[in-house]
Amino acid sequence: MEIFTTKIALDTYLSSFRSTNGTIGFVATMGALHEGHLALIRQSKQLTELTVCSIFVNPTQFNDPTDLEKYPRPIEQDIALLQSVACDVLFMPSVNEMYPDQNEHWHLDLGGLDLIWEGAHRPGHYQGVTQVVKKLFDAIQPTVAFFGQKDFQQCMVIQRMVEQLGLAVQLKIVETVRDPDGLAMSSRNVRLSSEGRKNALALSRALFMVKQKLNQGESLLQLKREAVDFLQQSPGITLEYFAICASDTLTEIEVLEEIDKPLVAILAAWVDGVRLIDNVLLIS
Ligand code: PAJ
Repeated sequence: MEIFTTKIALDTYLSSFRSTNGTIGFVATMGALHEGHLALIRQSKQLTELTVCSIFVNPTQFNDPTDLEKYPRPIEQDIALLQSVACDVLFMPSVNEMYPDQNEHWHLDLGGLDLIWEGAHRPGHYQGVTQVVKKLFDAIQPTVAFFGQKDFQQCMVIQRMVEQLGLAVQLKIVETVRDPDGLAMSSRNVRLSSEGRKNALALSRALFMVKQKLNQGESLLQLKREAVDFLQQSPGITLEYFAICASDTLTEIEVLEEIDKPLVAILAAWVDGVRLIDNVLLIS
C-alpha cells in the first residue's frame, strides 16, 4: 500500500494512474477502522481498479471539542487493517495540509438538510463534513465514492452536495455492518464500558422492533410512541431523537399516505457519555 501525506505527492501518483483511464474508488474515513469501514474498502476493491482510503480526523465537523480530543487514533492498527484488505493507497494528511488557510469560510446551501436531526444537535457539523469531503474529492478525483448507510443523513447531505455542485463522482451507499448482537459498528464503541455496551443494544432493538411491527400493519405514530417509550425505559440511555422519515428529504412522516414510500427510522442517543446514532430502512 502506498501512503501519502501531501496532496501533491498523492496527485503525482494518481495522475499516472488516471492517464491509463483506470477507475478510482474512494473511501473517506476518520480512522479507528473497523469492519464497517472495511466493508466499504472491499466494495471499492470489487467495483473499481484502484482504491484510495483517507484517514483524517476533520476538526471542522466536530462541534464538541472533547469529542475531537477523545477521538481514537490507532494509526498503526489502521494501516495493518487496510493492508489486510489490500487497499491500494492511504492518504493521511495533516490538519495544515487540508486547511492551509485557518480563516477559510465554507458555506453550502444544502436546502436545510444540514439543519435537521444530526445537524440540529451538532450545529455546523454538515458544513464541516461537506467542506472536507469536497477537498478530498478535489484531491483524489474518484470515479466512485463509497459511504456507509450507518451515517444515513451524511449520505443524503453528500448526495445533495454532489448534485448541487455538479461533481463528476458516482456515490454508492453500503449497508450498515453490525456486531452479531445487532449493535452498529462505530469507532466510538471502544469508549463504551461493558455495561454501556450492553445498554447500547437497546438502540438497534428499538429500530428492528419498529421494522417488524410496521410489517404487521401498526401506524407510524403508534410505532414511534412505542420505540420512544422503549428507549426511555431502557437503562443507561438518554435519547436525543427518534423519528420515522422520508428517506430522501428526511422530513418526519407521521401518517403513511403512499404505500411503498421509502422510509427510514433514525435515532441518536447518549450511552455512557458517548453519542451514538443508528438507523434502519423500513421501506427501501
Ligand atoms: P467515519 O465515521 O470514520 O466513517 C467513514 C465511513 O465509514 C462513512 O461513510 C461511514 O458511514 C462508514 N461507516 C462507519 N461505520 C459503519 C458501519 N458500521 N457500517 C457501514 N459503514 C460504516 O463518516 C465519517 O468518518 C466522516 O464524516 C467523513 C465522511 C470521513 C468526513 O470527515
